[in-house]
Amino acid sequence: MCGIAGYVGQRNAIEIVLDQIERLEYRGYDSTGVAFKSGDSLQIMKRAGKLAHLRAAVEEENPFSEVAIAHSRWATHGAPNDLNAHPHYDATGEVALIHNGIIENYLELKEELTRAGHVFQSETDSEVAAHIIGLEYAEGVPLEEAVRRAVGKFTGAYGFVVISMREPGKIVCARNASPLVVGFGKGENFIASDIPALLPYTRTVAVLDNEMVALVTTEGITAVSPDGRTVKLSPFDVDWDIESAEKGGYEHFMLKEIHEQDDVVRQCLAGRLGQENLTLDGLFGEHVWQDIDRVNIIACGTAYHAGLMGKTLFEKMLRLPTDVYFSSEFRYNDPLLSPKSLAVFVSQSGETADSLAALRLCKERRIRTLGIVNVVGSSIAREVDRVLYTQAGPEISVASTKAYLAQCLVLYLLGLHIAEIKEMPGVNVKAGLKAVREFPEYVKEALDLESSIQDVAKQFANSKLAFFLGRGADANVALEAALKLKEIAYIPTQECPAGEMKHGPLALIEQGTLSVVGATQEDVRDKLVSNIRELQARGSHVLAITTKDDELTPTVVDSCAMIAQTNDWYLNALLSIVPLQLFSYYMALERGCEIDQPRNLAKSVTVE
Ligand code: F6R
Repeated sequence: MCGIAGYVGQRNAIEIVLDQIERLEYRGYDSTGVAFKSGDSLQIMKRAGKLAHLRAAVEEENPFSEVAIAHSRWATHGAPNDLNAHPHYDATGEVALIHNGIIENYLELKEELTRAGHVFQSETDSEVAAHIIGLEYAEGVPLEEAVRRAVGKFTGAYGFVVISMREPGKIVCARNASPLVVGFGKGENFIASDIPALLPYTRTVAVLDNEMVALVTTEGITAVSPDGRTVKLSPFDVDWDIESAEKGGYEHFMLKEIHEQDDVVRQCLAGRLGQENLTLDGLFGEHVWQDIDRVNIIACGTAYHAGLMGKTLFEKMLRLPTDVYFSSEFRYNDPLLSPKSLAVFVSQSGETADSLAALRLCKERRIRTLGIVNVVGSSIAREVDRVLYTQAGPEISVASTKAYLAQCLVLYLLGLHIAEIKEMPGVNVKAGLKAVREFPEYVKEALDLESSIQDVAKQFANSKLAFFLGRGADANVALEAALKLKEIAYIPTQECPAGEMKHGPLALIEQGTLSVVGATQEDVRDKLVSNIRELQARGSHVLAITTKDDELTPTVVDSCAMIAQTNDWYLNALLSIVPLQLFSYYMALERGCEIDQPRNLAKSVTVE
């Protein structure tokens, strides 16, 4: 997510790490920082905003150091300001640390440290990690041993790089879930969060495995496992050009972002799931949830589709009446809003002009507001009463994929949270938590459907029209799947609940017309199969997405993609979007479309 760079060698490390960070700029960021050796101490310089601000400050001092680490932060929580920017010192100032990810148990650790007299400059979990590493280091062990011992105390996701004043020739790094790559030079070595940052300097790189702790010096790079055993790195030569390296070797950002989704789910859940309960920081108090009588979800496009999932969930699981509005229509229809209602704004960018205008109207009407937003510190995030971040990381492809998954997941967590507070009979929050905990693995498994989905896409790439259908929650996912196909493959689509077909749209079916049908909802499967037969009777080719335990649908349809059975109707429907995203992607690829930047569309719609 955020960018990490590190260098140790004979050249001016500060210039090199800032250049590396610049090569990761395309992913977006909100603050930058650098740490390096300066005389007898470690100096940290950091600035909110663009890298140019940090560069200007560095140029004024014109420092030289043979070791440096740098960071570009894309805040997932905690305001994007100078204090929260990385690197962070430990309590003594002897150690400087950069951290990507989320330390889930940081509050506990912070409390312990605060009781022991530690004072913190920032709100971040990362500074707590720096203090813990500093305490281990104070025992007199080498830096790599201090980091290895410290990471045993953390739960959550991390990619750390650490330098110290006592051993200035060393950079130590450790990872769990957040990616880190080391680069091999001659008499100099490198570390980065992504390969593009390394390519101007070396093409021989090795990806650190989860839980590895690595030591980078001018002499070489070594790594150990959590129990201290030496592990072998597997260097390889990168032959990608810079552009494909930015896309992680994928042909398009969209495909990269689709493939990131198992990690996106982990990131989105990080810090929120306990064994038995759920922690959604900064939400309304219990009495407010008891008072809320209605939910209005307001959003555009893909985020609106996530809102529809929220409606189905809140009404089915919580029996809480929920309306979903297009932001662009909301203000002009004089909406009827109960004074006890909650307005939920779903937005990836947090800057969509129509959503922002609708938010201001709700504020004028004194309705409580909640944002489900990806970009920290964006306008919507700042103006709502409360915000839940989706923690999906920067989304570069115009067509939204991972943000949708994270939005729907946050809505699910919110549903469980409300159920917990209201002690809803019949809602098994524990089972819900278990299902979300397993969800990243199911997403990963769904991504394995890629080649079979690509085969179907090859067969139907010349379609003039495609239908997207489903019942219940699958009907919501059908809308999102259809939008993806329209926007990137430019194929007209007809999307509606499957039972609506015979009330009109069926007239459009001809021999060979493709119908993509979501069949994950067990309670309406028999009805859906009847709808499928109606389509087939008119010559439609039916591609179904269903769960692995479904013994009926695969026997009826023409093509089928099977996803895991998650034991939760909502998560089953949500999971089905993964093969459907892949389907749109490969349809667009076959048709030679400009996938990451579809015609006429912009990533952030800041005009009404
Ligand atoms: C479609 C897509 C758009 C956005 C919509 C809202 O793939 O990305 O439909 O979902 O423009 O944008 P945000 O979520 O930034 O408010």
